[in-house]
Amino acid sequence: METVEKLEKIKKEREEIIASFSKKPLEDTYLDKETKKIKSIYHTIVTDIKEETPDVKTFTLTADKNSDTPSLAPFKAGQYITIHVTVDNSPVTRAYSLSSAPSLANKDIYKITIKRVENGLVSNYMLDNIKVGDKLDVSKPAGDFGYNPIRDEENVIAIAGGSGITPFMSLAWAILEGTYDCNLTVFYSVKTEEDIIFKKEIEEINKKKKNVKFIVTLTREEKEGYLHGHLTREMLEPYIKEFNTVLMCGPKELYRSMNELLNEFNIPRKSVHYENFFVEYEPDEKTTYNLKVVMKEKVETIPCRNDETLLVAMERAGIKAPSLCRVGECGYCRSRLLEGKVKMIGASLKKAEAENDYIHPCVSFPDSDIVLKLDI
Ligand code: FES
Repeated sequence: METVEKLEKIKKEREEIIASFSKKPLEDTYLDKETKKIKSIYHTIVTDIKEETPDVKTFTLTADKNSDTPSLAPFKAGQYITIHVTVDNSPVTRAYSLSSAPSLANKDIYKITIKRVENGLVSNYMLDNIKVGDKLDVSKPAGDFGYNPIRDEENVIAIAGGSGITPFMSLAWAILEGTYDCNLTVFYSVKTEEDIIFKKEIEEINKKKKNVKFIVTLTREEKEGYLHGHLTREMLEPYIKEFNTVLMCGPKELYRSMNELLNEFNIPRKSVHYENFFVEYEPDEKTTYNLKVVMKEKVETIPCRNDETLLVAMERAGIKAPSLCRVGECGYCRSRLLEGKVKMIGASLKKAEAENDYIHPCVSFPDSDIVLKLDI
């Protein structure tokens, strides 16, 4: 009898536990907490701005301790953060590689280095408007680019053009601080000596004569201490070992020319990794379509050119569409295509996403009038 009573008691307790769980609101579940963490925005303050060259600045961002951002997440050299700003009344985002030593995140500091670009909406806004003391919202670090000790070889060749040097400066500091045990040679191409970003740091690191070395090539002038012209087989050859990992970051033309050169060394494709930060599409004929955006509380119809992404068109119209990487990798902008056709460039959708008509607006160009459902 005593045993039956005990069993009854246990049964009752279990039923109460199950009932209490089912009463819990969905937002209290573990999964939702994780999702919120992923979506979290960090509030930072610009604590320093350094002019690297006439058209490049490094912004130091420090956690705004008076907000709900007491600290910043750690990051891996090569990762990026996305900044959220409002330009001409439109909320826009841009992803920038972190250029600082990953160890600085322990002091709640991130650094991003931004170059002026022709018609660059956010980059030029940052360079012309942001001052020390301004507040800036950023997403947590993301991205897979960089050195991976499990995947990569000990001999690492990095090839950078222009502002493509930023992730490699972070990687250089990570290696010098002992995070990775590898040799890094960075080939860095710029037009003139005046265009060298991180000139002082590069000199300082080269003086150490450790396992990180920068080799700068000037393509438009000849000066002592630098190589001259575009990278050639002869320049690379002394640094190529039996097994190599090649990391590249820079303009598209650099990738094209370097791929040809790397083929001559028989470096396998799986050993070459690129930072992808542009999405381009040149339609045969330019035209403008209607993009109808269905949101939770309203519906808006806006124009969208067929040489711009749905995301860019929405941002220009002041619609706060979700975005992080802007190159089809993170999936954060995923939205449902209710009607119409798009050309998606460079994004790979999961089978279930494709079957349910999901697209990534950050890399989708309209090919007809569009109806898009946004979860905002
Ligand atoms: S913003 Fe990352 S996939 Fe679109």
